[in-house]
Amino acid sequence: MLRLRGARARSPSSGLGGGFTIASTLPANNAPPKASTIHFKRSAPRNILTIVPLPDGSTGINFASSGHSGLSQRGFIGNTSPMGFHHVAIAIHDTKANYQFYTEVMGFELVKTVTAPTPEGGYSKHFFYSTGQTGSGEQGMIAFWEIHVDSLEGFETNLNKGAGLPWWANHLAFDAPTVADFERHRERWRAHGQTVLEVDHEFCRSIYIRDPEGNTVEFCLTTRDFTPEEKAHALELLLDPNPPMEKAFGAKIWQPEGDPILLPSG
Ligand SMILES: [Fe+2]
Repeated sequence: MLRLRGARARSPSSGLGGGFTIASTLPANNAPPKASTIHFKRSAPRNILTIVPLPDGSTGINFASSGHSGLSQRGFIGNTSPMGFHHVAIAIHDTKANYQFYTEVMGFELVKTVTAPTPEGGYSKHFFYSTGQTGSGEQGMIAFWEIHVDSLEGFETNLNKGAGLPWWANHLAFDAPTVADFERHRERWRAHGQTVLEVDHEFCRSIYIRDPEGNTVEFCLTTRDFTPEEKAHALELLLDPNPPMEKAFGAKIWQPEGDPILLPSG
């Protein structure tokens, strides 16, 4: 969910006076404003927000990002404050299929639907499923958009297909806090006729299926803490142009019934 008020609060010198205005709040006969740009440098890469006049006389907002300020661990503040996702939001086409999948197959609860005009004309439904309590006690959520804008008809909702990537690249991973949770999710998926891929990543175990838009979803069970050595070498490996390869992960394919097909590790 875009939180424009929050962005404005971080940019008190933006010079916009009354703050952000979006198309839905402007009279149609307002003169188009000149584009104005706000730079707010909170972290790398730099975000650039531009308020632009649209052909119909209303106002739109463009986000872009560019550049970075170098890589280091100096900005690490993960131990001072929890920073888990509040939610991730994805546009879809088939809301009924989405609702059936994310409630019955995934086990989440629909908790909020927001309906509002969009800056491009038309309107949207922005709806949220609770995924349960996060480690910090907050309610984690996954959200989707049903977008009704004529100029956007036919947009791609499969994140990997749209990006030209294989099915496993962009995906949504949800936490399975215990082995019992992990196995319960896997068996619920199978009971709904899903064929489930299970992978042992050594530090975690994962199960995968795909949602009605073709996007890959995962439940992940963390099986051990990261060692000091792993943390110390994480950035070094990240920047290594010729990193050593880990062995291939062991996997299982669980069809809706019967024993799993084993795919041994390499
Ligand atoms: Fe993953």
